[in-house]
Amino acid sequence: MSSMKSFHIITFGCQMNEHDSERITGILEGQGCISTPDPVNADMIILNTCSIREKAEQKFYSELGRLRKLKDVNPGLKIAVAGCIAQQEGAGILSRAPYVDIVFGPSDIARLSNTVERKSGSSPFIDTAGDPEYHRKRIPTSRVDKVKAWVSIMYGCDNFCTYCVVPYLRGRERSRPHENILQEIKELAQKGYKEITLLGQNVNSYGKGLGRDVDFPALLRMVNEISGIERVRFVTSHPRDLSDDLIAAMRELPKVCEALHLPIQSGSDRILSSMNRKYSQKDYLEIVKKLRRSVPDISLTTDIIVGFPGENEEDFEITLNLLEEVQFDSIFAFKYSKRPGTSALKLANHIREQVKEARLTQVLAVQKTITLEKNKTYVGTKQEILIDGFSKRGGKMSGRTRSNKVVNVEASADLIGSVSDVTIISAGVNSLTGMICA
Ligand code: 5AD
Ligand code: SF4
Repeated sequence: MSSMKSFHIITFGCQMNEHDSERITGILEGQGCISTPDPVNADMIILNTCSIREKAEQKFYSELGRLRKLKDVNPGLKIAVAGCIAQQEGAGILSRAPYVDIVFGPSDIARLSNTVERKSGSSPFIDTAGDPEYHRKRIPTSRVDKVKAWVSIMYGCDNFCTYCVVPYLRGRERSRPHENILQEIKELAQKGYKEITLLGQNVNSYGKGLGRDVDFPALLRMVNEISGIERVRFVTSHPRDLSDDLIAAMRELPKVCEALHLPIQSGSDRILSSMNRKYSQKDYLEIVKKLRRSVPDISLTTDIIVGFPGENEEDFEITLNLLEEVQFDSIFAFKYSKRPGTSALKLANHIREQVKEARLTQVLAVQKTITLEKNKTYVGTKQEILIDGFSKRGGKMSGRTRSNKVVNVEASADLIGSVSDVTIISAGVNSLTGMICA
């Protein structure tokens, strides 16, 4: 057992990182260490970091600065940096923060126990080599939620969108063997989990390179058969790889929810091409049409980047018009952020911060109206919700529709983990309010 007894994890970034933190916790707990909610008493603090945009990086460095002070009070405290910034900077983190003790990358988690063991001396320990067998390994996982679980199906990304740092940090696409995935989900079902979200940077290309004939729709069909699991979701999909077979699977499989996150990034073909997205606005609209024809109540969400290099007023207008045309249920919108090593850095005509800010405000305002209108169409309808916890503002229980809308209801806490029918009585931008059907 390690000499380190208690640890505290701070997670930045996406669901992938949230799930990695569950794995880090699982490994350390397996070593006899205890996760503590209080950083002040911890023997080790782990920062699981994100570097998708500069802002996420800044948040990490300011947190790191704050934690340094804890070392003055508790000199035995170890600070570990995990995740994407660890991978990006490696030993470089030490030149900015020499008080860091351990640095390990997203594909080095499985070796974490050795890392902690070997960190007995005073010199920092760096492990960002990447484990080539990581995707074949079963990693102990300590999940935060008791109803919904994330399950990784693949790691890395081969797309090389010109703005994105992920392929450089999370490596080439590697799919987990389907037997391992199915086994993990069966065990989750036995533990009482009801909803599974399959995770990967580009789930639609699941299976590529495995030399097997299980592709993503085939995997979904197998997951759909696992008894006990009631709902299946997946993120993230790339429009280029969204096949007719996947649309058919979404239509046919009762457990696969009617919700899809399909990042478009921009409405302008000129910008899409410069982003290396490999589809046009027309291609995207065609997919939306097919999806809505096959899965009538499907809710669609997307990601938008504003202020990509070279984006002029006309390109931006095209994106706004696209939002009006598609009527997404909601969007995530970001200002383009320069990322080290990415090819968009070298593009001409980078956009001024002020312009990016104004475009972001505008895009969010346009979408807010659309989202509210969409949500209002739910009022008076009956929806099936999976109750998963307490409402954010408290006082009520909260669940999600199959289309992934948050619904707050008056209900007993005993209903956590159960599926209930509710009538929607009102709608806001961020959530709906419902009443349990008698
Ligand atoms: N700048 C802004 N947004 C980015 N994203 C990825 N890289 C960048 C970047 N350099 C956004 C994309 C992606 C989401 C996860 O983050 O919209 O879909
Ligand atoms: Fe997740 Fe991307 Fe951030 Fe890495 S860089 S943590 S993959 S959002």
